[in-house]
Amino acid sequence: MNIYFDDKEKIFHLQSKNMSYIMQVVEGGYLTHLYWGRKIKTYHKSNPIIFVDRGFSPNPNCSERTFSLDTIPNEYPAYGNGDFRNPAYQLQLENGSTITDLRYVKHEIYDGKEKLRGLPAVYVESEDEAKTLEITMEDKLIGLTVILSYTVFRDFNAIARSAEFKNNGNEKIKILKALSASVDFRDSEYDLLTFHGAHINERNVDRRPLVSGIQTVESCRGSSSPQHDPFIALLQKNADEDYGEVYAFNFIYSGNFVAAAQVDQFKNTRVSIGINPFDFSWLLEQNESFKTPEVVMVYSSNGLGDMSRTYNKLYQSRLCRGKFRDSVRPILINNWEATYFNFNADKIMEIATEAKKLGIELMVLDDGWFGKRDDDFSSLGDWVVDKNKLPDGLEDLANRINNIGMNFGLWFEPEMVSQNSDLYRKHPDWCIHVPNRPYTFGRSQLVLDLSRNDVCDYIVEAVSKILYSAPISYVKWDMNRHMTEVGSAVLTPERQRETAHRYMLGLYKVLEEITSRFPNVLFESCSSGGGRFDAGMLYYMPQTWASDNTDAVCRLKIQYGTSMIYPTSSIGAHVSTVPNHQVGRITPINTRGHVAMSGNLGYELDLTKLSKEEKEIVKLQVSNYKEIREIIQFGDFYRILSPFDRNEAAWNFVSKNKSEMVGYYFNILSQPAAVIRTLKFKGLDENALYENIDTKEVFYGDELMNVGISIPIIKEDFSSLMWRFKKIKSEVTILRHIKKIL
Ligand code: DGJ
Repeated sequence: MNIYFDDKEKIFHLQSKNMSYIMQVVEGGYLTHLYWGRKIKTYHKSNPIIFVDRGFSPNPNCSERTFSLDTIPNEYPAYGNGDFRNPAYQLQLENGSTITDLRYVKHEIYDGKEKLRGLPAVYVESEDEAKTLEITMEDKLIGLTVILSYTVFRDFNAIARSAEFKNNGNEKIKILKALSASVDFRDSEYDLLTFHGAHINERNVDRRPLVSGIQTVESCRGSSSPQHDPFIALLQKNADEDYGEVYAFNFIYSGNFVAAAQVDQFKNTRVSIGINPFDFSWLLEQNESFKTPEVVMVYSSNGLGDMSRTYNKLYQSRLCRGKFRDSVRPILINNWEATYFNFNADKIMEIATEAKKLGIELMVLDDGWFGKRDDDFSSLGDWVVDKNKLPDGLEDLANRINNIGMNFGLWFEPEMVSQNSDLYRKHPDWCIHVPNRPYTFGRSQLVLDLSRNDVCDYIVEAVSKILYSAPISYVKWDMNRHMTEVGSAVLTPERQRETAHRYMLGLYKVLEEITSRFPNVLFESCSSGGGRFDAGMLYYMPQTWASDNTDAVCRLKIQYGTSMIYPTSSIGAHVSTVPNHQVGRITPINTRGHVAMSGNLGYELDLTKLSKEEKEIVKLQVSNYKEIREIIQFGDFYRILSPFDRNEAAWNFVSKNKSEMVGYYFNILSQPAAVIRTLKFKGLDENALYENIDTKEVFYGDELMNVGISIPIIKEDFSSLMWRFKKIKSEVTILRHIKKIL
């Protein structure tokens, strides 16, 4: 890792672990992009920008027709002075004009990485983990500076980027668009990778060839959303899981975003990502500044698997924070699908008692414990225990659960208010709304206006009061609707379009406060399942409920897609009952277990209703998972077969020191004349001997990876297999094995 600056040529060469990123300040002070890809030792302008006179491409210098911003690769492109492609930013001045012109002024290189005040971001624990470059660009006419910041990492092929706008001039500036990163590629021979979805159908893998024009994914729902992930990547045409180049962009933000790839007239590709400019603006008064959220750009020369492991490891170790970042996560039982709103303290105790017998560690009480919430029409905002359901209160229930040897966790949906609630009756203007316009409801509820300090303070105090009141060791932080009629009662007319971003800043402030007040509480975020599964939320809460869809077959795709970016330690996965409540499918309990064991294992069903045999299986799953969860949650994850391409799926986890491996294979529908396949595991030590823990068979890592294991023909739908291999350390066993082969 290093950052070099060639003063004569004005070239910046940034090196992460095995990656180079190169920019140059050219004539006139324009910042151009030269290279992003595999690490090179030194750069001597082997690919200089070729300046040619292209028809209709405007020139800043009347007599120099070969120089046009429209034809060169720009690092943070402006609007209005020749580059007709997607700009990275746009501002409006007091005279109504929207033209700006940024030129290089100076730069600074320093060790480590600064925090992004009030925003989630990846961090370092010591200065030698990263280096940062800050380039100051200026529009002298209006006294605007933009600081582009780039951090490269010692241990990751990644760059973290953001931009900061500072108004040093005499007039107000309105930011209309302020993306976090833009990169110009000199060709368009790529596939585009994005993730699309819906409630109970999150993060489907979408790969398609780039075509001319702009291809966009976005959210304007006030949340990162299950519809699209704040992510975009370009893939070399032949790239797959293990081969080829990948250029990925992931936005550390939980609100409205846009990610676009634009193929221009000369077959260059511009990729950009940041806050969605749709219905956004930000007023920058004199001496004020605006910082964009961060984008993490990952380069892989070894396909998607390597890209994922970079994101997975970076996010697990340097985005997630707190006590639980590195600790194995508890196996939980959640009562939602078991009881929905229909429970009382005794029922919860019954489920907990059964769970304890099976080895489960944490009882989570979901929605319905507060106000008068017997359905989803009321009470959000009234965080007061419902004594009808819990007559002796929360503390009593939590103590009873602790007394049987389990921890207690609780559900909240703090960002929302029901119209039928004391909170709404007292503060009708605390919700996001536009005066005189009728509300649009979502799940019969309204969104609290977190752009307001008083609302944020209320949430912090209301949630804290409950958390102080009982021994609660886990919180499920839910959020179940998107924003409509976006506006705030406390913002001036010219700041109304700041509401959605101010909401996010308010939310992050609330989360920072609550999670630091309760460092011993494990927080899991949720948004109707995985509807706000993003890197922004992971900064505050190290795990996310991946989907309200608990069907094992649907989950194969959901968890496969999620693993592309997010670490396994962040993926909440539960075994639920059959027929499954979302899709009606009946799958074997083994398969449900294997799918859920591929994430943070939990159960979400009425355990008291299981048969004796089923309970035995659950008991075994739980005890097995306790043995392997360190590998699953903190090892390396390798995808082998994609459920998006075929009727099966397979993956394996390898412990950090490669001494243990857990593999899973899922056969969705039983087929006639089925292919007899071998499964080739990945990521093992090729020279080490591994023993199958169940069968005691012994193989070298190279055999397991290159020859593979034969999969028997299974005449059953929705079946699954699991393997556990352990490196053999004892020389006696190794010698015995070698003798056997000889
Ligand atoms: C949506 C969540 O995704 C579910 O798991 C559950 O907590 C419900 N909300 C409760 O209302």
